[in-house]
Amino acid sequence: MTQPAATARPGLSADATFPADFAWGVATAAYQIEGGVNEGGRGPSIWDTFSHQPGTTINGDNGDIACDHYHRWEADLDLMAELGIPSYRFSLSWSRLQPTGTGPLNPEGVRFYRDLLAGCTARGITPYVTLYHWDLPQALQDDGGWPARQTAYRFGEYAGLVAESLGDLAEHWITINEPMCAAFLGHSWGMQAPGFKDDGLAVRAAHHLLLGHGLALAEFRSSRPGTKVGITNIIGNLNPATDSPADREATQYWDAVSNRIFLDPVYKGRYADPTVAAYGKYGLTAAGEGAAAGDLVQPGDLDIISAPGDFAGINHYTNMLVSASDSGSTPNWTHVEPAPSSFGWSNTPEALKAVLKRVASEYTDLPLYVTENGVTFHDYVDPNGEVRDPRRIDYLRGYISAVGEAISDGVEVRGYFAWSFMDNFEWAEGYDKRFGLVYVDYGTQARIPKQSAYWYRDTIAEHGGHRALASSAAAGATA
Ligand code: FCB
Repeated sequence: MTQPAATARPGLSADATFPADFAWGVATAAYQIEGGVNEGGRGPSIWDTFSHQPGTTINGDNGDIACDHYHRWEADLDLMAELGIPSYRFSLSWSRLQPTGTGPLNPEGVRFYRDLLAGCTARGITPYVTLYHWDLPQALQDDGGWPARQTAYRFGEYAGLVAESLGDLAEHWITINEPMCAAFLGHSWGMQAPGFKDDGLAVRAAHHLLLGHGLALAEFRSSRPGTKVGITNIIGNLNPATDSPADREATQYWDAVSNRIFLDPVYKGRYADPTVAAYGKYGLTAAGEGAAAGDLVQPGDLDIISAPGDFAGINHYTNMLVSASDSGSTPNWTHVEPAPSSFGWSNTPEALKAVLKRVASEYTDLPLYVTENGVTFHDYVDPNGEVRDPRRIDYLRGYISAVGEAISDGVEVRGYFAWSFMDNFEWAEGYDKRFGLVYVDYGTQARIPKQSAYWYRDTIAEHGGHRALASSAAAGATA
C-alpha cells in the first residue's frame, strides 16, 4: 500500500471524548459494492431491474460489477485491517440469500456471508450487519413489494432464517437501513427502486418497512437472544428558513413526514399527530385502534414495531433550510451553507450533534450509533498516484468531533461508521459520486486509499481504536 507523503494530524476538537470501546468503523451496502449479480445463485432484486431501465441512473450505470467485492472481499478486508479499521458495517443481499424472497436460503449465499463474517473476525474486525439495504427480491416486488403487507412477513421470515444461519457470527444486527429512502425515494419521489411516484404507496411501504423491522427483531430475540438489534433511520436536521409562522409550520410538517414518521412509531409506539394529519388520507392511523381488516395500520402493529431494541442507528447527511411552498403542502428546502460536496450537501457538523441530542432527549435512552455519515467530492488520482482529499478530512474532522462533543455532553453514542469504506455505486447517481475513504478505479478495480483513509487510521489510533483492533486480533489468534 503506497503511503502518502504526509497526512494531516487528526486534530479533533478538544471537547470531543470517546469511550475506550467506541466502535470506529466504515460502512457499505451489498448492491453498492458486490457485483456478481448473476453468480452464486443470486436472484434479481429491484435494484437490478430499476438500474437497467433507461433513464433511471446517471449514464445508465448499474451494480452488475460495482466494486467486484463478491470476488475481491478478502483483499478488501485485508486493506481494511491494514488501515486499522476495527468495525465494519455491511449489508446482506436478500436475493443472494433467498433468491425469490421465499423458501429456504441459498447455500451458496449463506457460504459467501459466513466466509465474509469469519474473514472479518479473523482480521480483528467486528462486523455490524444490515439485513435490508434497499435490494428487495424482484419476485416480492412482483407480488406488490413493500406497499403490500405480506412483504413485511416475508422479511420477518428471511430475518429468522438469517438469524439461524448467520446469527452466530455477528453480535450487532441492523434490521432496515433508512426506511425513509426505501419508502419515499422509492415510491413517491421516483428516484430509487422500484421507481414509483405515488405518495399513497410510499406511506404503505413506510408502515410495512417498520412492521418488517419489528418482525425481524422478534425473530432475533427468539432464536439469537445474545445479539443486539436495532433499526437505522436517516435523520436530517431541519431549520426554518425564516422566523415566519409559515416557514416554521413547513419545517414541522417536513419533520413529521420525513423524521417523525419513522422515529415515533419505533421509540414511542404510535405515529405522531402531525404525521397522521398529513397521511391519514392514505390510511395512516396513530396505532391502528379500531381498524377493520385490510386497513393499513392493524391493531398490534405498533406493539411489534416499538418492541425495545438494543440500540438506535442514525444516518446523517443533511442540514436543511425549510420554507413554505406557495403551491401544495410539500415545503421547499435547501441545504445549509457551506455545502461544498459534489452533492451540494452541507458541511455543518453542529447538525449531527443536534440530531444526536434530539434523538437522545426526545426519543430513546438506547445507545446510539452513527451508522453512516460522509461526503462526496470529485476525487481523482494525481500524477503521484495519490488521492488527496483535504476537504473530506475537514468534513470528517468536524463531524467526528461533533460526535465526541455530544458524548462529552452526556449522549451515549457507541460508534461511528464513515460512509463509505470505498467508492461505490451511489444508487441513481451511479459511479459519479465518490463517498469512499478508498478510491476505486472501476476499470481496473484498483483500490487506492485516499489521504482521508490515512487520516481516519491515525484518528482511530489516537483515540484508542487501534488498541482495540490489536487486542481483538490477538484474542482471535490465541482462541
Ligand atoms: C444513504 C444510503 C447509503 C449511501 C449514502 C450516501 O442514504 O444509506 O447507501 O447511498 O446515503
